[in-house]
Amino acid sequence: MPIPTALDGTAASAQPSVSPRVAIVTGGSRGIGRRTVGRLAADGYAVVVGYAGNRDEAEAAVKEAVAGGGRAVAVRADVADEHAVAALFDTAEAEFGGVDVVVHAAGRMHLAPIAELDLAVLDDLHRTNIRGTFVVVQQAARRVRPGGAIVTFSTSVVGLAFPGYGAYAAGKGAVEALTLILARELRGRDVTANAVAPGPTATDLFLDGKDEETIARLAAQPPLERLGTPADIAEVVAFLAAPAGHWINGQVVRANGGII
Ligand SMILES: NC(=O)c1ccc[n+]([C@@H]2O[C@H](COP(=O)([O-])OP(=O)(O)OC[C@H]3O[C@@H](n4cnc5c(N)ncnc54)[C@H](OP(=O)(O)O)[C@@H]3O)[C@@H](O)[C@H]2O)c1
Repeated sequence: MPIPTALDGTAASAQPSVSPRVAIVTGGSRGIGRRTVGRLAADGYAVVVGYAGNRDEAEAAVKEAVAGGGRAVAVRADVADEHAVAALFDTAEAEFGGVDVVVHAAGRMHLAPIAELDLAVLDDLHRTNIRGTFVVVQQAARRVRPGGAIVTFSTSVVGLAFPGYGAYAAGKGAVEALTLILARELRGRDVTANAVAPGPTATDLFLDGKDEETIARLAAQPPLERLGTPADIAEVVAFLAAPAGHWINGQVVRANGGII
C-alpha cells in the first residue's frame, strides 16, 4: 500500500484511526428497523440490533450488515423492560465504545373500534409503544454522545384519524409529545430528537390481517399512489441520524408520500 503523502510531498504522519459512529436500532430484526440497520451499516455505523423474540431475523440482520463490511451485534431486549434496555445500551458501549444514534423503531399495532377494544389489549399495547419509548429514550438521553441523534416512531395516522386506530394512534401521539419535549430537555447536549411518522408502509405490522382490497385502497391514497417501503423510511432516518441532518431537531417528519 502506498505511504500517504502530504500535499508538499513529505510523508504524512499516520492519522489516528477514527472510531465509527455507533447506532442502536430497536426493532432491528424486521420491517423498517431491519432496513435501517442495513442503511446505517452501509453509512459506516457499528450497529446494535435490538429485537423482542425473533432471534433468527435479528441474526440475519447482523449477517447482512457484516456482509456489507459493517460491524453489528444483536441483543434481545423487550423495550418496556428497563433492565433489558439498560443492558442493550451497556452492550453498545462495551462492544463499540459509546452510543451516537438511537433509532427506536420497535412497536406494535392493534386495530379495533374504540367501543370494542379490550382494555387489557390497550394496556399491553401502551406498555410496548408508550412505556417502551419512554424507557428507550430515557437511556438515550443519558448516554448519547454530543453530535448524536435520537429518532422515535410515530405514525401519520395521528393526523389521518382512520377509524379503528384509536389505541395505536393514542400511543403514537404520546410518542410525539415525548420526543418534542426530549428535544428541548437536551438543550446544551448537541443531541437531536425527532419522530418519524410513516404512512402505510409494507411491513408485517401493516400487512398482517388486512385483505387485498384494504391494502390496495390504502396504497392508492397518497398522491404517489403506492405503499411506502422500509427503504423509503430508512433513508429519512439515515438523514436525521447523520451530521447532514443535524439542524432538524424537535420535529415530527411525516414520511408518507403525501397522504392526507
Ligand atoms: N408499517 C407501517 O405502516 C407503519 C406506519 C407508521 C408507523 N410505523 C411504526 O414504525 C415502527 C416500525 O414498524 P414496522 O412496520 O417495521 O413493524 P414490524 O415489521 O412489525 O417490526 C416490528 C419490530 O419491533 C420489534 N418489537 C415489537 N415489540 C417489541 C418489544 N416489546 N420489544 C422490543 N422489540 C419489539 C419486533 O421484534 P421481533 O422481530 O423480535 O418481534 C420487530 O423487530 C413501529 O414503531 C410502527 O409503529 C409503521
